[in-house]
Amino acid sequence: MALVPIDVLLKKADAEGYAVGAFNCNNMEIVQAIAAAAEAEKAPVIMQASQGAIKYAGLEYITAMVRVAAENVSVPVALHIDHGTSFEQVMRCIRSGFSSVMFDGSKLPLEENIAMTKKVVDVARAVGVSVEAELGKIGGTEDDITVSDKEAMFTDPKEAERFVKETEVDALAVAIGTAHGVYKGEPKLDFERLKAIKDLVKIPIVLHGSSGVPDEAIREAISLGVCKVNIDTNIREAFVNKTREVIANNPKEIDPRKILGPAREAAIEIIREKIRLFGSSAKA
Ligand code: 13P
Repeated sequence: MALVPIDVLLKKADAEGYAVGAFNCNNMEIVQAIAAAAEAEKAPVIMQASQGAIKYAGLEYITAMVRVAAENVSVPVALHIDHGTSFEQVMRCIRSGFSSVMFDGSKLPLEENIAMTKKVVDVARAVGVSVEAELGKIGGTEDDITVSDKEAMFTDPKEAERFVKETEVDALAVAIGTAHGVYKGEPKLDFERLKAIKDLVKIPIVLHGSSGVPDEAIREAISLGVCKVNIDTNIREAFVNKTREVIANNPKEIDPRKILGPAREAAIEIIREKIRLFGSSAKA
């Protein structure tokens, strides 16, 4: 299938009470793993590339790989930039063929975040591309973006209402206690805040930093209006742990396919588990 914008996938998820998995792709094997897992689960899926992934693999390679992956499965696939922090970068992604974008202006003062996000929405909407934005500051490290514990700031529901009204974004990433990367302790999510946000903001809500969040908390967040759940760290762990294991068991192996092939299988397994947890199996 051709790439689809996220708003099509998220509106259906919002109406039916499940979430679409948004999985970070950094190389060909991970793109293939996401496609294979989504196809096996008959699930809609979002493949997202961070600015770091684009720097590593190249914008044209990422776009081409995901386009080919989407054409070779029967389920809907979106290609999304994760945490685009510059207007120019987001525009380059749209021009390259991304079907949706995240503009992350969360480090900007509120007025500037609103103005820049609106500017992105105006262009994106004109060409049928969806926009996710962020309000509040999600802690942790996602590739080259780090938000310290001190900087992290929960989303204010009233501000969220104003932000969505003025920017007209399709989806909103909120800070309610999750963080990117590996957690030190068990994350505690502020469900009251999530409920208050969803009561005021009628659009799909996005949960970042979802690796390491207990399954029960993920289910609860979805029941309160989260429709897009982002997973990166858990895929990295599965992929790299398997490569370590294969190399440890076969120290003389020099064929990359014999190392990365099993790693791709391990990634498929974890992605399928997440898709089932999010309730998006058989929703394609
Ligand atoms: P994790 O690395 O914690 O899974 O977070 C991924 C994410 O939110 C990407 O934006």
